[in-house]
Amino acid sequence: MESTALDHWLSDLNLPTWRYYEEVGSTNDIALAWLDRDAPDSALVVAGHQTHGRGRLGRTWISVPEAGLAFTLIVRPNAQSPFPVERLTALGALAVTQAFKAGFGVDAHIKWPNDVLIAGRKVCGILVELAWQEEQLQGAVVGIGINVGRAAVPPAEGLHYPATSLEEALGHPINRWEVLRRVLEAFLAWRSRLTDPEFMAAWEQHLAFRGKWVQASDGLNPPLVGRVEGLSPEGHLRLRLEDGSEYRLSAGEIRPLPAPFAESSGGEDA
Ligand code: BTN
Repeated sequence: MESTALDHWLSDLNLPTWRYYEEVGSTNDIALAWLDRDAPDSALVVAGHQTHGRGRLGRTWISVPEAGLAFTLIVRPNAQSPFPVERLTALGALAVTQAFKAGFGVDAHIKWPNDVLIAGRKVCGILVELAWQEEQLQGAVVGIGINVGRAAVPPAEGLHYPATSLEEALGHPINRWEVLRRVLEAFLAWRSRLTDPEFMAAWEQHLAFRGKWVQASDGLNPPLVGRVEGLSPEGHLRLRLEDGSEYRLSAGEIRPLPAPFAESSGGEDA
């Protein structure tokens, strides 16, 4: 039934192939196994529902039937499309932000490195996982989870970061397969253009918290406080620290600082 609905939404896209599962543990697991066999670049795995969705940093991704969208795209090196691993998370996040704007008129921003926010609250998370065979990188999977309906937003007490849904932003329900289609359109449009300067420019343009004070953690060292300036050519987050020096965050995550701190740090637009 759902796969017939998906046929309707996906059939005229330039997707090489896709598989739909009513219920899976994690679409990333299915995609990694498929990648290990013969999946082509841009093959898609979609789930009606995930029972063991994963997030970054060992977190759980809760997937609510009907209201949530969980899918994974396979990316592998090929002659036509470049394979810059460090841009794959941004590829997913940019595809989602552009799909929200083009399809539904909703402004969204990328909270470096892997979340999409609407009005400062998380609506989507991206999990990229790499597949190695001995020393050789075989490819990667780009897992995307989107809170489409209000019911997809988990209760606040279990949340690591405030969350919202696309439906809440729009004020009316929306078909999750239409959202999927829009994201895939944007994903496919960027897939062969990852090394173009326009890709970095689009990522920069959608960066959340530009000019704002954030706390940045790399998971190894004590957190730092800095103002977001933008991206380095490698896609690292450029921060201006309180002593005026520049710091480039290559991994980890950021959190906006509450206003009183931001003001005392001289953040006029924080
Ligand atoms: C995060 O916010 O930390 C990333 C969440 C990624 C969730 C998606 S849902 C589809 C794919 N399958 C998974 O198990 N995780 C990703």
